[in-house]
Order: sequence, then C-alpha cells, then structure tokens
Amino acid sequence: MSVTNRQSGTNVHEVADGIYRVNTPVEIAGAGGFSFNQYLIVDDEPLLFHTGPRKMFPLVREAVASVLPVQRLRYIAFSHVEADECGSLNEWLVAAPRSVPLCGTVAAMVSIGDLADRAPRALADGEQLPLGKSSVRWFDAPHLPHAWECGFLTEERTSTLFCGDLFTQGGADLPPITESNILGPSEAFRHEMDYFSHTKHARAMLERLASTHPATLACMHGSAWRGDGATLLRALADALLA
Ligand SMILES: [Fe+2]
Ligand SMILES: [Fe+2]
Repeated sequence: MSVTNRQSGTNVHEVADGIYRVNTPVEIAGAGGFSFNQYLIVDDEPLLFHTGPRKMFPLVREAVASVLPVQRLRYIAFSHVEADECGSLNEWLVAAPRSVPLCGTVAAMVSIGDLADRAPRALADGEQLPLGKSSVRWFDAPHLPHAWECGFLTEERTSTLFCGDLFTQGGADLPPITESNILGPSEAFRHEMDYFSHTKHARAMLERLASTHPATLACMHGSAWRGDGATLLRALADALLA
C-alpha cells in the first residue's frame, strides 16, 4: 500500500491484478471513522469506478496519477447518483478529455444526460464492455441498496464485483483487503444507518450477482474482500430478509 497524500492519508493498493483501490479515511462529526474508495482498472481503456465526493477530487486525482496519467482515463463509471459516487464527474471529464461517464440506462436518462458536461455511455442491463485485456459487465440493481438507477459492474478477467455500497463497513483504519468476515460489520452499519431500501427484489438481484461467482468484492466503504463472493452475497440476502 502506498500513501499518496500524507495529510489526508489517501492511499492506493492493488486489490486484484490491474485493479487499484484508492482509499481516503475520514472522520464524520458525530458518526466516527468512515472511508471512501474508488477503483481504477488499468487497461487499454482505463476505467475509474466512483469519483469520490467533489471536494475530495484533488486527493483522488493525485492518487490515480500515482498509477497512470489521469488524461488516459476513458470511462468514469459509478453505481448510482450521489456525491461520493459521482460528485466530481465533471472535474474528471475535464482532467481526462477522452473520458465519458459510464452508467446504467436509468442514470443516463434521469440524471447524467443533464448533469454531466459530456454525454454518457449508458450500459443496458447485462451489457458487456471490453477495456482491453479486461472487460466489464453492467447489472441493473434498482434500489439495491438504494437509488432507482443503482447498478454494479463485474470485471470478468479477475472475477471482481464492484459492489458499491453493499457491505459498507464503518471505520477509518481498515486494511485495504481482507478475507475475514465483513458481513457482521456491514450488518451492524446497516442497522445503525438504515441506508438500504426495502425492495422485495433484493434476493433475486443478489442471486444474479452471486451467479457471477466473484472472487473479489470491491467495496466502496471499508475493506475490499477476497473469498467466495457467491456465498457472501447469499448470506447478505438471508440477512436482509431475516
Ligand atoms: Fe449510496
Ligand atoms: Fe457510497
């Protein structure tokens, strides 16, 4: 792991072959430690998944630049429309002149066609997009854990699931990647914050993600995780319905 900004503690760690986690720990007044992660897929057409909050843009740009020239970025992708997922989207579109927003069709139609300074590349449910050696596939996941436009990407070469806000863990000093239990901590966080919708379709959507058999879960808040992702996703479905 390399620290790219001493003051903020922003750091970069390769969590799977060619996939880098950018992490910034924060203290939220009254709520304690937390963290924001972005993931960078290094390939012919480099992809950044999540931009980080707008005010964090200089830190995330500095961290990405430690891995590759930011102007090489081709896709600025995100799960849903909130500040931590895409708050600095337009800053990235300026920093990387060849880049376009990459999101689901609902996000493109409802928000990004208007909010973004360049037209998005909208991925249909199940659509695959080659990046070079790697390729990503988009899964619509409306309201899982929240937001109508929500969805996730998988990367097929490394069996990575970019699972966004699923398995959110509180705390500011977690390891970059872990093989230990993250469902317990993320369930504790969910019971405190109630940030999941109450969609009846959660199990079916989680089962579909499980069927891709991810080996790495690229969580947006807390540690990334390595292990039998299908089993963990099914355990989350059980916990949501308990
Ligand atoms: Fe969110
Ligand atoms: Fe988030």
